[in-house]
Amino acid sequence: MRPGIEWRAARAEADSAQFAADLQAALTRTPKAISPKYFYDEIGSRLFEQICELPEYYPTRTELALLQGHAADMASVMGTQIQLVEYGAGALLKVRLLLQAMRREQVQFVPVDISGPHLLAACDALAGDFPGLAVQPLVADFTRPHTLPPCPAGAHRVGFFPGSSIGNFTPTEADAFLRLAAEELAGGGLLIGIDLVKDHGVLHAAYNDAAGVTAAFNLNVLARARRELGAEYPADGFEHLAFYNPAYRRIEMHLRATRPLTLQVGGERFDFQEGETLHTEHSHKYTVSGFQAMAARAGFEPGPVWTDPNTWFALLWLKAPAR
Ligand code: AVI
Repeated sequence: MRPGIEWRAARAEADSAQFAADLQAALTRTPKAISPKYFYDEIGSRLFEQICELPEYYPTRTELALLQGHAADMASVMGTQIQLVEYGAGALLKVRLLLQAMRREQVQFVPVDISGPHLLAACDALAGDFPGLAVQPLVADFTRPHTLPPCPAGAHRVGFFPGSSIGNFTPTEADAFLRLAAEELAGGGLLIGIDLVKDHGVLHAAYNDAAGVTAAFNLNVLARARRELGAEYPADGFEHLAFYNPAYRRIEMHLRATRPLTLQVGGERFDFQEGETLHTEHSHKYTVSGFQAMAARAGFEPGPVWTDPNTWFALLWLKAPAR
């Protein structure tokens, strides 16, 4: 085995062992619930890309339009001589719109992502398209304590967290992330995308698309368990369920058992009653003022807000006072 392949095989094994442990814990708790991070294997990541193109799924195109229309103003609040940190960087598509509005010789770009191979490939492509841009990728889980490269002399640090991914955090996780960001971005600030509270019908449609892509994305968690862990359950035993829960201002996604059934994984059997669910994701929707209040409790000060004519999505600048 070549060294790279060996590393990938060892990594895949470690990931699968963690998935097996987390899935068993998820199926043991009441109510059954698993982290949405398990959506994103190769197949799930491709399904998510398809979701972003769906007519019903407005967040991606609304945020892209905001970035396209206001990148110059956003770049201007971020300032010159910056270390730009992108949290959960992924394919590095949205940040290009910001970088186009910046003087690249004044920017050091630090994309942070847990998936090393994908991050490095995306950085190569970015460096090819933005010659002269200093790119310093960091492979890390940005929700846990990590060490950023030191800020270049005379520069200040600013953060970018697009995609309304913070909506998939629990309120406790969101608070912890904001506190960590306020500390590491002290003296600069954070540009963050959030999905706003809106008409329930619009929300419902975005997570129940007619083509069934979101259903396939949701069901992929168990399909992945079958592929990776040899999990066994009836092929038509689960169905996609997504609804808006107004009490928590969130879309909840679940996998609902269509009849009484047993799911077997890792030599253990887990029973489901008919209609019982495995909770797979929540996607919180915020008001601008509610989010600013939460950010203020974590140490940020409110700044400019960019939103679309429907007020469906917002990009917020949060100032992080120097400490
Ligand atoms: C990644 N995240 C912001 C998406 C969302 O809308 O909460 C994930 C998603 N789940 C279903 N559709 C999209």
